[in-house]
Amino acid sequence: MEKKSIDWANLGFAYMETDKRYVSYYKDGAWDEGALISDPSVTMSECACVLQYAQTCFEGLKAYTTEDGHIVTFRPDMNGERMEASAARLEMPAFPKERFVEAVARVVKANAAYVPPYGSGATLYIRPFMYGKNAVIGVKPADEFEFRIFCTPVGPYFKGGIKPLTICVSDFDRAAPHGTGHIKAGLNYAMSLHAIVTAHKAGFDENMDLAPGTRTKVEETGGANFLFVTKDNTVVTPKSDSILPSITRRSLVHVAKEYLGLKVEEREVYFDEVKDFAECGLCGTAAVISPVGKIVDHGKEICLPSGMSEMGPVTKKLYETLTGIQMGRIQAPEGWIQVIE
Ligand code: PLP
Ligand code: COI
Repeated sequence: MEKKSIDWANLGFAYMETDKRYVSYYKDGAWDEGALISDPSVTMSECACVLQYAQTCFEGLKAYTTEDGHIVTFRPDMNGERMEASAARLEMPAFPKERFVEAVARVVKANAAYVPPYGSGATLYIRPFMYGKNAVIGVKPADEFEFRIFCTPVGPYFKGGIKPLTICVSDFDRAAPHGTGHIKAGLNYAMSLHAIVTAHKAGFDENMDLAPGTRTKVEETGGANFLFVTKDNTVVTPKSDSILPSITRRSLVHVAKEYLGLKVEEREVYFDEVKDFAECGLCGTAAVISPVGKIVDHGKEICLPSGMSEMGPVTKKLYETLTGIQMGRIQAPEGWIQVIE
């Protein structure tokens, strides 16, 4: 298969239309058999539940070209499982995770020409999503739904690749206690837009979201979980019911313990402790692990000892091991890699 002529090394994190997408429709209590289609457009009623009441959730995962030339995806079953949980919280029917995994494979295979080559620094980002499609005007769930997957080749999420970021403590709450912070609902991202635009206008790369209510504990960012490293090399990651259970973070916890022999603490992290950490990173599918060099809390600066020019040493080891597993340079734990072709 011949690759598309794309300047892989200079891709940003942006949408590029690819050849095929998957679509399945839910009506009368059942999903249809689903199909790959070419049309990237969606037509729906002006009164569709997704447009009026934001009944939608999504996922994000990537396909990689390995060192030996295969195309693989990373833990798609985990995304399928999380999407089932998101759908349940939003009163949508589950798209079964087994069908999810198979549909991801079909989309990647059909767009193999867009999967960036090994070593290019780019990857294929896969975006499954689901929404309530029929018209509702009273506040209630839809009863017809569309599940779709498209994919698009991407470069780094943050401009500058793996250069350390400067982030600020947000004045806005991302999630409510007992709300929807733990699922991948579109509404969480709609309400984060003002916060991220505000942070960007003030010259920051991202927000640090604190726990709603108390605002004393660290939660996450708009698109990634936090990982901290203590001065004695313990990996610390915030535990909270209102953050998204990142698949990257859960994988890194395993990598830290089982591959690197590091101590890991998953626990509540108070903002007051942050000044004592040696390293900080943002982890997620899009972010991979993006190092943080500076955290600013209303003018007060916390400068991580790892500095503003490169990743800290533990973050770097985690990054290299995780990407090594994803690109086939390092043996993956059983079941983590789905070979597409
Ligand atoms: N937190 C939020 C709010 C996200 O949007 C994401 C991205 O998916 C993550 C964390 C990281 O999750 P994952 O590692 O599963 O991509
Ligand atoms: C991801 O990492 O897949 C995300 O969803 C983060 C962001 C692009 C929303």
